[in-house]
Amino acid sequence: MRRQVQLFILLLVVCDAFGQVSYSVPEEMAKGTLVGNIAQDLGLDVKRLKLGNARVYSGDSREYVELNAERGVLLIRERIDREALCGDTTPCAVHFQIVLENPMEFYSVTVEITDINDNPPTFEKNEMKFVISESTVVGAKFDLERAVDLDVGTNTLQSYVLKPSDNFILKLHNQADGTKNVEMVLQKPLDREKNDFIALVLTAVDGGEPQMSGTMQIFISVLDANDNAPVFTQQVYKGTVSENATKGTTVTSVRASDADHGLNGKITYSITNTLDDVRHMFEINDENGEVKLIGRLDYEKKRHFQINVRARDNGGLTDSCKVIVDVVDINDNEPTIKIMSKSTIISESAKPNTVVTMINIQDPDSDENGKVQCFISDNIPFVLKSTSNNFYTLVTDSDLDRESASEYNITVTCSDEGVPSLSSSVTLTLQISDVNDNAPVFDRSSYEAYIVENNTPSLSVFTVKATDADWNQNARVSYILEDSSVNGVPVSSYVSVSADSGVIHAVRSFDYEQIKDFHFRVRAQDGGSPPLSSNVTVKIMIQDQNDNPPQVLYPVQTGGSLVAEMVPRSADVGYLVTKVVAVDVDSGQNAWLSYKLQKATDRALFEVGLQNGEIRTIRQVTDKDAVKQRLTVIVEDNGQPSRSATVIVNVAVADSFPEVLPEFTELTHDKEYNDNLTFYLVLALAVVSFLFITCLVVIISVKIYRWRQSRILYHSSLPVIPYYPPRYSDTLGTGTLPHVYNYEVCRTTDSRKSDCKFGRAGSQNVLIMDPSSTGTIQRIQSEKSILDEPDSPLEVGYFSFITVANAGPFYYITWL
Ligand SMILES: *[C@@H]1O[C@H](CO)[C@@H](O)[C@H](O)[C@H]1NC(C)=O
Ligand SMILES: *[C@@H]1O[C@H](CO)[C@@H](O)[C@H](O)[C@H]1NC(C)=O
Ligand SMILES: *[C@@H]1O[C@H](CO)[C@@H](O)[C@H](O)[C@H]1NC(C)=O
Repeated sequence: MRRQVQLFILLLVVCDAFGQVSYSVPEEMAKGTLVGNIAQDLGLDVKRLKLGNARVYSGDSREYVELNAERGVLLIRERIDREALCGDTTPCAVHFQIVLENPMEFYSVTVEITDINDNPPTFEKNEMKFVISESTVVGAKFDLERAVDLDVGTNTLQSYVLKPSDNFILKLHNQADGTKNVEMVLQKPLDREKNDFIALVLTAVDGGEPQMSGTMQIFISVLDANDNAPVFTQQVYKGTVSENATKGTTVTSVRASDADHGLNGKITYSITNTLDDVRHMFEINDENGEVKLIGRLDYEKKRHFQINVRARDNGGLTDSCKVIVDVVDINDNEPTIKIMSKSTIISESAKPNTVVTMINIQDPDSDENGKVQCFISDNIPFVLKSTSNNFYTLVTDSDLDRESASEYNITVTCSDEGVPSLSSSVTLTLQISDVNDNAPVFDRSSYEAYIVENNTPSLSVFTVKATDADWNQNARVSYILEDSSVNGVPVSSYVSVSADSGVIHAVRSFDYEQIKDFHFRVRAQDGGSPPLSSNVTVKIMIQDQNDNPPQVLYPVQTGGSLVAEMVPRSADVGYLVTKVVAVDVDSGQNAWLSYKLQKATDRALFEVGLQNGEIRTIRQVTDKDAVKQRLTVIVEDNGQPSRSATVIVNVAVADSFPEVLPEFTELTHDKEYNDNLTFYLVLALAVVSFLFITCLVVIISVKIYRWRQSRILYHSSLPVIPYYPPRYSDTLGTGTLPHVYNYEVCRTTDSRKSDCKFGRAGSQNVLIMDPSSTGTIQRIQSEKSILDEPDSPLEVGYFSFITVANAGPFYYITWL
């Protein structure tokens, strides 16, 4: 077609040489617009035109141009739209002929229609939508719709403009047909996170004057791509958790964010530690990042944990962070006490500061929770010394005494300084071993024992007891009798002591009248090495038995002789006739005498003083009373059973001797007795002298013998002749001793007669601790005072031998 048009134009130029004319007129000219003065251009006269009936011949084509013959011009007959007429063919011309008649001739006329910019570039759609992933690489191309401009030449579409041009640039490709393909090329990556929707305006412009343009909206939705990794808010998180925290305790929370959208922004948390035990201790909530404890912590095993946490989005992008968990110590460990070394037994002689036990303390807790203090109770003689960190020694603090405490339970308590504090304790049992540091101690500072006279030998008298506070052998006490002498006789002949039991036995029978008391020492000795001992004084007191009857000293019983007391008939009531004097060698109650009238010629005339033995008249003597009165007085001691003696007192009731004599003479047993009185007296004196000398000899020889015996160890049962002061020689020694120890004493109560009394076997005596001993002494005193009464005619202590002769009307008393 184009080719045809060109060919045709070529023809026009050729024809022009044969009367061809061309005009050019812009399109869209209004009707009647002048195209050209054809008459003039063809060189024809207007008349010719008129006459020739000139007309436009356009064949089948439309007539756009008409001929105004009168003016000889061509006018626009119809609006011409070049685009409609030629499309994009250029040049665009309308061809027609001017046909003349008369003569017939024709002329070809070409009217070129020139383009005017009457069409803007237009897009078919006024918007385009794209969905582009943000991950699209730079250089990606996107075809855009072309705009169309019906105009041609410069008036047609010239270029495109895309605004804004941040991400995309336009690229035009010339096509083979001369059109341009429009492409949008990604020049800078999209970022949904910044801008998820982009609106662009594509403007197409032509080259006309004025320029015209058409636009199209381009909407780009940016599709998310997983181009953002999760990011933790911190690189390192810190958390603390106390050691005793229960399972499920939240330690801390981590948080990561992902700029992506939707699934790309969905984060999952996980713990990535593999080598250690963190995964057994902690878990993380994969959605919210909460770190929780799931195991049992022990500060003493592990104090810090490093948890590696990964955050991962759905697209697989990750970030990681660290969670440092510090375990806070709790005072959950009590101190442990370890005994490094200990003695279970220590001597009581151990010096102060002797180490008994060494202790080591451990507390795995830290700081205050692991600081340990140890102590023991403070009323024991030990102290706990801290030698160095956590080492203690238990040492003795003062002297030990097994006797006051033989064993100690020492409780060592250790407590830490945590709140609340934990403590533990251990009890050490320490035995104190004995040292012989205590002498035996007698349970009394001195002993007094009583033994009733006439005891059997080997009678156990008494037991001394000593105790020793020490232990075992050191406390085994034996008793030893200390050597001493009693009245010149070794004490061992009086008593013996049982070494084991401390029982004191009498070795012999005692006679109170001979020995009233004696004392000796007993030593108690323990079995220690060296042994310790102590001693005690034992005093043995012999107790009296009523083994002697009273003896009447006055009036003297003369057997056949007649002794009488004179009572004048004028005597008043209460006249002291005489006084019966008696003694008892026993003592105390046993020597407390009482006098009673047993028989009397006339009971109404006399009475006997119960206590003092005074015989007094109790009524006026009358003439009717017989001259001769005979009274029997019984003297009793107060012993149990009591012993007694009787005495006959003759009383003559008369004013003078002559009056009495006949009466009494009759009473005389025989005359020769009186006659021989002098002879008897002489004989008695001789006998007494002889006895005295014999006694002297015997005493001296006994003394010598004893002196010799004492040189040799003796255990004698020989009869011992006691020593008597001379004045007592006839009143003492009437004691009765049991068979073996019996000795005989001859006693003279009369100048002419002597009788030997043999002792009887004493009754079995029992040891009596007589609580009334002082009472006995009082009674002895009171008795003495009776005897010491001023009106008492005789002093008991001083006479021993009295002879009353009834040969004359006088008394005589011989003092020796
Ligand atoms: C942990 O120990 C502290 C201090 O001893 C105490 O106050 C707390 O109650 C304990 N917690 C648990 C869970 O036992
Ligand atoms: C020491 O403890 C032991 C055993 O518990 C006990 O038999 C003993 O009597 C205690 N000793 C003292 C002195 O408390
Ligand atoms: C008996 O004991 C006393 C102290 O109680 C002491 O002085 C004396 O020497 C001791 N006698 C003997 C013989 O041991």
